[in-house]
Amino acid sequence: MSFKTTEFFAGRLPRLATLFAMVTAAPVAWSQHEFDDAADDQGPIRISGNENAFGYSPAAMMAMMEALGDINRYARDEATAFVQAISSFERVPASHIITTAGSGPVLLMTALAYAEPGKNMITVTPGYLQLSSAFERAGGEVRSIPLTADLAHDLDAMKAAIDENTVLVYICNPNNPTGTIVNPDELRAFIRSVPSNILVFVDEAYLELADGGLEANSMINMVRQGNNVLISRTFSKVYGMAGLRAGYGIASPEVIARLRPFHMGGPNLLALVGATAAMQDEASFAENVERYRSTRQMVTEALDGMGVKYADAQGSFVFIHTGIPVERFQSLMEERNILVGRPFPPKLDWARVSIGTEEEMMTFIRVFREIMTAEGRLASR
Ligand SMILES: Cc1ncc(COP(=O)(O)O)c(C=O)c1O
Repeated sequence: MSFKTTEFFAGRLPRLATLFAMVTAAPVAWSQHEFDDAADDQGPIRISGNENAFGYSPAAMMAMMEALGDINRYARDEATAFVQAISSFERVPASHIITTAGSGPVLLMTALAYAEPGKNMITVTPGYLQLSSAFERAGGEVRSIPLTADLAHDLDAMKAAIDENTVLVYICNPNNPTGTIVNPDELRAFIRSVPSNILVFVDEAYLELADGGLEANSMINMVRQGNNVLISRTFSKVYGMAGLRAGYGIASPEVIARLRPFHMGGPNLLALVGATAAMQDEASFAENVERYRSTRQMVTEALDGMGVKYADAQGSFVFIHTGIPVERFQSLMEERNILVGRPFPPKLDWARVSIGTEEEMMTFIRVFREIMTAEGRLASR
């Protein structure tokens, strides 16, 4: 550190002390936003964007702070260490991994690598649109299959939509916005039944939060067994690092090679260091999963108590049948300082509500009950 740098830090010691106190405080507790009845001046409750309100690994924060002095250099060893950490976590060789700034770029690269006029992909509606919109912009045709009555993937209908021009099938598992998952045995059977020249993309952005987690549900074993499957994962959701931008894709070296020409840069040095440390901080990960599951359960139990329908919630959000046009529901909620998810056609009287902190969700439940009652959707008590 140069003399000038030392002088710079000397003037900022109180701020640095606060930062260190945040890092060394009890895991994740420091990052809670506490909302209560008098919370209007604290900014809105943001349960609209599937962001993690619980915070992230203190070990990751510490590792990033230690790496701050190194960002005058390009990342080299840090990139290797990240790939090695993924390789041992996923039990696949490094040749099967592509690292990206969030998992969104894996979806975009896939669209660019596979779309061309005359070719089509199969997805669902309502579903997550990042890949399919890019596929369409790149000249491909998108076949969107309606979900089942339970708002889950209709694998039979997806299979039936495949023809000789299909290059890609996208399965978002759990599905965003509905939160439903595909039974793993049925998904494996589906993958085996799809012609092997068609890539099956399984977006596992929220899968850690599903019943049984990655262990019971991930399709990574299908990649290991040599199927034409691409898995994407992100540090934006359960790991709570959406603003950092780290994610990755896993597939055969041939698929990875097809994506590489469209790679526009991986995670930056801090993201590499932070994500690597987060993967190794098992306690913080487990705590986040547990808080997500228990808070989600608190919300679904409250909905059960009100007799309100929702889709099977296996991600970091709940898709709720309010019976109120979603734009109206959004504005009624916003008047009460709560931001909820956008419209997801064709389910326009449903709302996607992300899981926030326990306090935020208690406020949400209270306001939800009031709005639903005022709108005549619940018997008043
Ligand atoms: C299903 C799904 N996949 C991928 C992403 C992309 O997120 P990120 O680029 O932050 O990993 C999101 C973001 O909300 C998502 O919901």
